[in-house]
Amino acid sequence: KVADLKGLKQGQLRLAVITTAKYFIPRLLGPFCQLYPGIDISLQVTNHERILERMSSNLDDLYIMSQVPENLDVNFEPFLENPLVVFAPISHPLAKERNIPIQRLSNEPFIMREPGSGTRRAVQTLFDEHGITVKVKLELGSNEAIKQAIAGGLGISVLSRHTLMPDTAELCILDVQYFPIKRNWFMVYSSGKQLSIVARAYYEYLLDAAKKIVALNTTTTGDAVEKTHV
Ligand code: PGA
Repeated sequence: KVADLKGLKQGQLRLAVITTAKYFIPRLLGPFCQLYPGIDISLQVTNHERILERMSSNLDDLYIMSQVPENLDVNFEPFLENPLVVFAPISHPLAKERNIPIQRLSNEPFIMREPGSGTRRAVQTLFDEHGITVKVKLELGSNEAIKQAIAGGLGISVLSRHTLMPDTAELCILDVQYFPIKRNWFMVYSSGKQLSIVARAYYEYLLDAAKKIVALNTTTTGDAVEKTHV
């Protein structure tokens, strides 16, 4: 016990998270650091493929991602939903339509995340399943840049609902058949690895924080994901 406390007084926490988690994880680090002020944290925010590379090289303690790697031996636990939705500018002609057939998306200029992105992979899988080919007008490696491009009228895109912050009043979510693509955020770490005391404390902290957020949103809105960006 004494050793545990000592371990928590000081230490390092190395996290690497997919791009969509940046709307959530940094904010939650504040209260965690208040609980454990002696801990130094490094946080890498990058795409799915880079996370896999980091994991293979054993660079971090814990990872947050939406798709658990199939060919690496890992422990994982889902903790929050991460649905992917279709974003358009609020003035878009489809904005007022309901249950839009997915085929309609092939007529729209589309903004796609870069190769290596998990978002891109999930979108492509759904389009392949339904034989949809979209006209990729622009390829961009940043959710924020894609939101700006949508607002600027360049096209529509599919992004995590977590990227929609209150400051993005210029965008809306289209009600398209087969959307949202249902996904989760998982906490992941290599099976061969024993979590440090600090990493374990963070793991427990994050699970607890996520539970509270889900409970709060379920009681206030009846929707467990609507307000997950605290
Ligand atoms: P990405 O990951 O940043 O690689 O698109 C997001 C996700 O997989 O949900």
